[in-house]
This record gives sequence, structure tokens and C-alpha cells, in this order.
Amino acid sequence: MTIVITGGSGFIGSNFIHSWFKDQNEKLINIDCLTYAGNNLNLIKFKDKKNYQFKKSNIKESKKIFSLLKKEKPRAIINFAAESHVDRSILSPEAFIDTNIVGLFNLLEVTKKYYNSLSEIKKNNFKFIQVSTDEVYGSLKKNEKPFTESSLYKPNSPYAASKASGDHLVRSYRETYKLPTFVTNCSNNYGPYQFLEKLIPLIINNALNEKTIPIYGNGKQIRDWIYVEDHCIALKLIVNKKNLKSTFYNIGSNNEQTNLNIVNTICSKLDLIKPRKNNESYKKLIKFVIDRPGHDFRYAIDSNRIIKELKWTPIMSLEKGIDQTISWYLKNNNWIKETQSSDYNSWVKANYSKRK
Ligand code: NAD
Ligand code: TYD
Repeated sequence: MTIVITGGSGFIGSNFIHSWFKDQNEKLINIDCLTYAGNNLNLIKFKDKKNYQFKKSNIKESKKIFSLLKKEKPRAIINFAAESHVDRSILSPEAFIDTNIVGLFNLLEVTKKYYNSLSEIKKNNFKFIQVSTDEVYGSLKKNEKPFTESSLYKPNSPYAASKASGDHLVRSYRETYKLPTFVTNCSNNYGPYQFLEKLIPLIINNALNEKTIPIYGNGKQIRDWIYVEDHCIALKLIVNKKNLKSTFYNIGSNNEQTNLNIVNTICSKLDLIKPRKNNESYKKLIKFVIDRPGHDFRYAIDSNRIIKELKWTPIMSLEKGIDQTISWYLKNNNWIKETQSSDYNSWVKANYSKRK
């Protein structure tokens, strides 16, 4: 059998492929158009692997994707393809509407056509899984309970709104066309292969290059961090389990931290592993900068449903996960250089010139 994933050359998608081939032999096809965030360096290990295939395509290219589905007859599609960075969505929201809504709509249409061509047995086994985010629920106050699958959608950034629209579309294809769709809403991921623009790799990379570490606003905002492989294990359970009870699953790891705590922790760890030439702490590089507009104060996830129904449980502690992430970035300087394209440099200029 075969599964198809889209956006597999990005951060979570490529970690999913690494995780997949740790314990599965089933063929996996990765469709990705390789935006600035996609890089097949992440997957070099699988270049010649028999059960792995890469297809360069945009999820909007309906004809190309339909003929691939007809030929390969996957039992499942997992959609990771997206524009994923909140700050970019604030500066240039168009791409977010284009991929996260219009692109997803095209993918759903193609999937529906493919699904309708399947035999009843194959239909019964088929799944379309949309990888989404906790940001669709908006922001929590300090003492509010974590988001559950019945929390209201209240997205605040163009990114979150585009993902929320996507989730609604996916749900509507189940209700209207009986397409077996599922949505996962996960909290902030971290780990290897994360593009440098996101908080954790940005801190590590800036520190190692003696650059300012920018903290938006007062740094008291809270995120619920999950090690990327724990997220991937949850997705594998969802794609492999027959007769799922639910159609929406929240995924989180109970690691709520302020941004300031995350930055201080990473700086302290780097002080020990790779002290600065002047022997000062990396914390000296921290600079409080102008806040992100519409900055969500807090995300927190209640994962009880997936824990109960699928016996999933996150394995990685934040302490160990951060250690592993730092050591991955220290060992993979080449990856950092290769992915730090001219696009990244002009993006940094555009974003941070607004925050001085
Ligand atoms: P990413 O930006 O690192 O990767 C996105 C991938 O999608 C890239 O490989 C890119 O080339 C590809 N892509 C983008 N537009 C495409 C298109 N039109 N057609 C084909 N491929 C396209 O993102 P990520 O952090 O790996 O996130 C993956 C998914 O998980 C996204 O849907 C995101 O919303 C969701 N998510 C991310 C997080 C997180 O913390 N990173 C948390 C929860 C959910
Ligand atoms: P980010 O990694 O962009 O994820 P998200 O916005 O999806 O949560 O940011 C995580 C948090 O870190 C968020 O509250 C914004 C903050 N942040 C900074 O303080 N400085 C930075 O340079 C970046 C990129 C983020």
C-alpha cells in the first residue's frame, strides 16, 4: 500500500518521513513545490530509497495530482503543505490565502474525485488528514482552561485565519460529500530541520552568530511546546488506526513556557556547551523589540482525546528536546548555510526593520 503526503520537504513533513521509515515499510510519496520553507536536503537520506518518491508539484496543480493519485492509489493523504509563519502572514497575507485556502480547496476537490473512483472496500479504508494548528482557537488568558476540540475558532492572525478556513473546508467535505476527512490541531513544534525564522532555531542561530536575539514585546507570551517527533508519532497513529472514533484531534505536550523562559534556557545551555569568546552570557544578546501586531498571549492544548482514544502519549521532555535540538543545529552548520538563502536574508531585513 501507499500513502501520499504533501509539504513533506518542510519542517514537520520531513520529520514525519524520517519517523515513518523508522518503523514502516509502506511506500510514501511526497508532493512538494519547494517554497523557501521546503528543502530536499532534509530528505537526502531517502534519495535512493525504494519506497520513497518525491514529486515536485504545487497542491493547486489538480491535473498532475489527480493522475498521480489514479496511478499510485494511496490509502491516505496527509496534507502538511502550507504557508506557516505568522510574521510573514502579517507582512504578505496573499500567499497564505492562496495555499492554505485555495490550494487546500483544490486538493480536496481532486481527492474527492479520486475517492469517488474507488471500490467500496478501498473507500472504507481511505483517509484525508489535514495537519492544522492550535492557533485557530485564538488566544487564552492566563487562567483559562487549555483548548479542547470543542473550543470556538477565533483566529487572530492571517495565518491562523487561513488555517481555520482550511479546517472548515475539510470538515465540510466530510459532511457534504462523505469524504473521510480528519483534522489535527497541534501546538508549537520544535526540533531538527525547522526553518531559521521560527523562534527556537532563530535564537540558536543568532546566538551562535553573535547577532541580536529579538524578543517581541515583553516576552511574557506563552506557547505549549511539543517535540516534532511526538507530533509525528501521533499522526502515524491517526493514519494507521482503523475506525477512528473522532474526526478532530488536539495534540500537545503540556509544556507551557513564556518566550523569555525559552530564550533564557537556550542561552544558558549554549553558555555551557559553546561559551562565547568574550565569556559573557548569550543573554547579553537579548533585545526587547516592538511587539507582533495581534500577538496571541497564550496557547495551551488539552490532548485528553488522543491520549484516551489512541493511547498516544508525548515521550520527549522539554529539557531533553531542547538539548537534542541545540546539538542538531550545532552539528548541521551546512544545513543552516544552505537554507539561509537570499530570501531568508531579505525576509529578516523586512521583518526586523519594523521592530527597531
Ligand atoms: P513549513 O513551512 O516548514 O513547510 C511547509 C512545506 O509545504 C514546505 O516544504 C513547502 O515547500 C510546502 N508547500 C508550501 N506551499 C505549497 C504548495 N502550494 N504546494 C505544495 N507544497 C507547498 O511548515 P511546517 O512547520 O512543517 O508545518 C507543516 C504543517 O503543520 C502546516 O500546515 C502548519 O500549519 C502545521 N503546523 C505547524 C506547527 C509548527 O509549530 N510548525 C504547529 C502546528 C501545525
Ligand atoms: P513562532 O516561532 O513564530 O511561532 P508562533 O507565532 O506560531 O507561535 O513564535 C513563537 C513565539 O515567539 C511567539 O510568541 C512570537 C515570539 N517570537 C519572538 O519573540 N521573537 C522572534 O524573533 C520570533 C520569530 C518569535
